[in-house]
Amino acid sequence: MTTTGIAITGSGSAVPSLSLDNHGLSQLVETSDDWITSRTGIRRRHLASPEVTLGQVAAEASLQAIAMAGLDPGDLDLIILATSTADDLFGSASQIQARIGATRAVAFDLTAACSGFVFGLVTAGQFIRTGVYQNVLLVGADILSRWVDWSDRRTCILFGDGAGAVVLQGSDRDRLLGFELKSDGSQNSSLNLAYQPEPKTLTPDVTIGQGRFHPITMNGQDIYRFAVKKVPEVVEKALFRADRTADQVDWLILHQANQRILDAVAGRLKIPPEKVISNLAEYGNTSAASVPLALDEAVRSGKVRSGDTIATAGFGAGLTWGAAIFEWGR
Ligand code: UT7
Repeated sequence: MTTTGIAITGSGSAVPSLSLDNHGLSQLVETSDDWITSRTGIRRRHLASPEVTLGQVAAEASLQAIAMAGLDPGDLDLIILATSTADDLFGSASQIQARIGATRAVAFDLTAACSGFVFGLVTAGQFIRTGVYQNVLLVGADILSRWVDWSDRRTCILFGDGAGAVVLQGSDRDRLLGFELKSDGSQNSSLNLAYQPEPKTLTPDVTIGQGRFHPITMNGQDIYRFAVKKVPEVVEKALFRADRTADQVDWLILHQANQRILDAVAGRLKIPPEKVISNLAEYGNTSAASVPLALDEAVRSGKVRSGDTIATAGFGAGLTWGAAIFEWGR
């Protein structure tokens, strides 16, 4: 079978205008700007007000990415929405498809928490690689503020809302150089947003579970240790598959969870701090949106240029983690 190369040709991002800084958070829970900044690097997060939908922020990021790629929405063949916080549990990708007018595109959701963008990048790439689709929109978007326990100071300080998007296109030159994806469900309890059933009796013989999703619970230290150990391993594996070494990486764009995790992972990979993209001070951890949001800012500011080699990695609930190595641009 002949295979097609993959190029990533456009990016976009959007966040809600409402924001909350650490001083504001310290009015809500017992914490301080100093504690949050020194332990995480986060100073502010953008939060969706009640009328804002995931579809709105995702569509805004999508239209930017489509324009940068020089396409019209009608050129898209496929839309993948990586999210854990869909407006509709049946899926929200179709709402983005309708909102942006991508009338030819098939659309579906993909859930892999904070690894969702990297998992989506690889999934989108397979459809192009096999020649099935030519133009694919991948959106990473989450409104985790809907699901945070705002009385739990160990988690509520971390998360923010936002969306990022990229366009992938078939290309003579293959720019998606290597990847590695991992899951370990045995550690699921370290970080979850779980459905908890409550018995509901329909007839004397039939009782079903009808409950609700409970807010995010997390063992921060477990996730911290997991990230610092597993993320460098998976980046190294992806680099090996890409036939590249860490010193050939121009930019390291990790899931924006905690500056200490970014520093530790970069240190283990011997990638110098000036090559590490970080924007979590402004946005916190935006889950599936964090990598494309950071990528888009770095592209638009002129840091990331066409042909640059990018190592990216996501990690989080599931547990899931994964890395991809790609060159930016056509
Ligand atoms: O997408 C993946 C999502 N998750 C992550 O990335 C989480 C990874 N983990 C982390 O980022 C860190 O574990 C945290 C930032 C969540 C916590 O930092 P830590 O250095 O692991 O702190 P800790 O949980 O060990 O807590 C140290 C102390 C505790 O007090 P005692 O028991 O030593 O007296 C906590 O009660 O800090 C206390 N503490 C706080 N104090 C002020 C915990 N949260 C706060 C807070 N403000 N917000």
